Amino acid sequence: MLTKDSKTSPVIEIRDLHKSYGDLDVLKGVSMTAERGQVISLIGSSGSGKSTLLRCANLLEDSQSGEILFEGEPISWKGSGHMRRPRDRKQIMRIRTNLSMVFQQFNLWAHMTILENVMEAPVTVLGRDKSEVETSARAYLDRVGIGDKCDVYPAQMSGGQQQRAAIARALCMEPKALLFDEPTSALDPELEQEVVKVIKSLATEGRTMMIVTHDMRMAADISDHVVFLHQGLIEEQGPPAALFGKPKSKRLQQFLSSTVSA
Ligand SMILES: Nc1ncnc2c1ncn2[C@@H]1O[C@H](COP(=O)(O)OP(=O)(O)OP(=O)(O)O)[C@@H](O)[C@H]1O
Ligand SMILES: [Mg+2]
Repeated sequence: MLTKDSKTSPVIEIRDLHKSYGDLDVLKGVSMTAERGQVISLIGSSGSGKSTLLRCANLLEDSQSGEILFEGEPISWKGSGHMRRPRDRKQIMRIRTNLSMVFQQFNLWAHMTILENVMEAPVTVLGRDKSEVETSARAYLDRVGIGDKCDVYPAQMSGGQQQRAAIARALCMEPKALLFDEPTSALDPELEQEVVKVIKSLATEGRTMMIVTHDMRMAADISDHVVFLHQGLIEEQGPPAALFGKPKSKRLQQFLSSTVSA
């Protein structure tokens, strides 16, 4: 298991990334680095580009300029601007299998049991041995506190349990980094806490994580670094104590006062 001391090498590096949808500039030159073992929270108002940044980091979205590096390896591009595409699909697939994403809406397969959901990608995408994957899938489901739910279907579980299953599914890929997009936003407050607890415990294990969240308490609690996005640019970033305790930018001050009073 990684420890906080092993923070030496960048897992994900983004340099001056520009991304637009048609005429709409969504990311206007964003640079950030997730070091090994680091927990980064992305905060900002709705539409600021948080999900887009996460999806670009996971190579689910194309971008028009700037660089993305995974463990020091730059993504290779062909074309430029709106015509820019990854040059090598194999590179993208290889890197993407090392980055597991957890979504707000869980995205579990309804027709598969929880165990089957967790086993699916390691078996079909990574081609790992089924019985080995089953052993680790059961262990990860135990790890997130739902080891007794292996044989039920997603619809038979609470939202908090489904999200924990989605986290177990992400972990079962043995990724180099976990990316979360508002993992607790769809949940009632009590269920939210079950999921926050799991995410916190992953943070203390020293896993590399990028988390888009509206939960400022969780961000303050578990992050090594917080990034505040405003209209497609990083307006302010730093350790949570500084960002939440002594925000410099007016926009961040306004954002924090609106989320606290919300
Ligand atoms: N597929 C898309 N096509 C066109 N525009 C998009 C698309 N996805 C996002 N956008 C636009 O890009 C901007 C940034 O969206 P993004 O989803 O990254 O924001 P966000 O910070 O995650 O917001 P929220 O907190 O509401 O989830 C928004 O103006 C959004 O409407
Ligand atoms: Mg979003």
